Formats: sequence, structure tokens, C-alpha cells
Amino acid sequence: MNHLKHLRIAICNDHAGYDLKNQIIEYLEGKGAEKIKDFGAYSTESCDYPDFAHPMASAVKKGEFDYGISICGTGNGISMVLNKHLGIRAALCWKPEIAALARQHNDANVLSMPARFITESEALDIVDTFFATEFEGGRHQTRIDKI
Ligand code: RB5
Repeated sequence: MNHLKHLRIAICNDHAGYDLKNQIIEYLEGKGAEKIKDFGAYSTESCDYPDFAHPMASAVKKGEFDYGISICGTGNGISMVLNKHLGIRAALCWKPEIAALARQHNDANVLSMPARFITESEALDIVDTFFATEFEGGRHQTRIDKI
């Protein structure tokens, strides 16, 4: 089953995440994602990840997108920015198992990845797993409500 087909996905990155971002957009387009918006950065020139992460977080919060994807060198800086926004749950994922748990337990609505520490093929596996996995609710919802 193609879990990506009807999704509206926002994506942001800094210079370190630029190449991987393009590869992921190409992959999502190939899978027929309904809407993809690239919030930048648009080159490998050094830049500041908050400039792209804050606008994307606002758009996801407003419900303009189902999910976000964020990419910087480590995935940490960009996640820190996103998680300042109430209602955004950005999870740093560097392997598919963590991506699955980020959905099952944390109902993550942004998938963050560390471009400098994973290959393109690993990133695409993580993307597939994240979007194919449902939130389990129950005790995990109680915990999320307490965030
Ligand atoms: C950029 O050099 C790097 O600091 C950034 O991509 C990210 O890893 C920050 O958390």
C-alpha cells in the first residue's frame, strides 16, 4: 500500500540538509503525495535553520499540512526550533525502528533527520516507515496530553 499518496507534506532544511531534502522531495513526488511545500533553504550556502523551521511549524500547526519533514546536519537544531511550537512534535529519527516508535508512541507530526549521519537510502526507509505507521493512542495519548 502507498501511504504517501494522499498526504500533504511540508519540508524544511538548512544548507546541510539541502541535498537530502531534494532527494526526498523527488521520492515523495514519485509516490504521488498530494501536496508538498518546500520551505527552504534552497541551496547549500550556509544559513540559519530557524529561518525555515519557524514558518514550516506555523503552517503545520494551522493544519495546512498533515506532516512536516525537517533536515539539518544532525537533525537536532532544526528539531529544537520546531518543538518550541505548541502542537508540533518533531522526532529525530536515524533508523526506521525509531521512526516507527515516533509515530506509535509519540504521534510525531514532524520527521526530523540528520543529513550528515544517514545515507539517502536509509533516509527513504525512514520516510516510508514513518508515514506507514499509525499512532497507538491509549496510554501514549495520556502522556502526550501532559507535554
Ligand atoms: C550546520 O553546520 C549544522 O550546525 C546544522 O546543520 C545542524 O546540525 C544543527 O543542529
